[in-house]
Amino acid sequence: MTEALWTKIATLADIPDDEGLEVQIGQVELALFRVGEKVYCVENSCPHRGASLAEGRVQEGEVICPWHGWRFSLENGACSSLPSSEPVACFQARIENEDVLVQIPHQKQ
Ligand code: FES
Repeated sequence: MTEALWTKIATLADIPDDEGLEVQIGQVELALFRVGEKVYCVENSCPHRGASLAEGRVQEGEVICPWHGWRFSLENGACSSLPSSEPVACFQARIENEDVLVQIPHQKQ
């Protein structure tokens, strides 16, 4: 059984505006992005060939993969460059005071 827990993984000041921050939580590697007053979290692995999306640029609500330029929505992970491709996994993220919390599924024992 899985349940999702909100976990603090960074502070707002850790994330440069319109850039990514790589964060490792257990076995999961995440890419955090800050766009204005919102934060987004996706799996840090491009579905195409596995590039680090945290190293990508952010433009118009999408992260641009640093290797081949595919664009992924930070809202839902959909790929606008090749809509038939697999989306990148997204995680709910929110700001609480100056902390960034992400909802990460945990395996319940
Ligand atoms: S590895 Fe991301 S577009 Fe190719």
